[in-house]
Amino acid sequence: MPRLIFLGAPGVGKGTQASRLAQNLGVPHISTGDLLRAAVSQQTILGVKAQAYMDRGELVPDELVVSMIEERLKEADSQAGWILDGFPRNVAQANVLEQLLASLSQHCEHVLNLEVPVEVIVQRLLHRGRADDTEAVIRNRLAVYQAQTAPLLAFYQARHQLRTINGNAPIEQVAEDLKHILQRSPD
Ligand code: AP5
Repeated sequence: MPRLIFLGAPGVGKGTQASRLAQNLGVPHISTGDLLRAAVSQQTILGVKAQAYMDRGELVPDELVVSMIEERLKEADSQAGWILDGFPRNVAQANVLEQLLASLSQHCEHVLNLEVPVEVIVQRLLHRGRADDTEAVIRNRLAVYQAQTAPLLAFYQARHQLRTINGNAPIEQVAEDLKHILQRSPD
């Protein structure tokens, strides 16, 4: 039963690869960024609270994101596996996820970490042009990643779940590399 987490800085290709892989494996692609953007566009209570943080490229407060992901992981389609993209985003979220999965008798097999040089990321995102893809906000998202999300690499390395992949290659090549990694047994 595939349960995978995509980790990596903004713009490394987490969403691109997670959505392809989810389709191939027949499990839901659960992106906290997509869920939050949907909430913002529907102007739900969550969306109204989250918008200012997202506009600045800051993390949305943990309590908002955690309850959102908790609900999503309890839905029927998540029982056959899932691919998380954009969650967890800091050590507190990772600890909550670990407890949540234990309570659901679920286990994440691999944490897939895509790596891409910073200047390649900036060019990719400027080219994409989402609302939070202005240069100032991109650079803040990258700084937030370094300060708050990068410590998760050591967190998952210590649990022997971390697999690092070069994301600075054509989309098809990255997908192939991911496929090979997933065929290998855990350390
Ligand atoms: P989120 O939506 O998660 O954005 P992000 O992490 O900044 O990631 P991106 O979507 O920018 O990049 P990606 O790695 O998915 O790359 P993609 O495949 O799109 O979060 C947005 C905001 O929501 C956060 O800032 C925060 O406010 C909030 N948030 C979300 N989760 C949260 C959480 N857990 N806690 C608190 N707050 C949270 O690709 C990028 C571009 O590159 C695309 O144009 C794509 O076509 C292109 N591309 C992809 N792969 C390649 C390749 N191999 N070669 C060339 N181009 C490529």
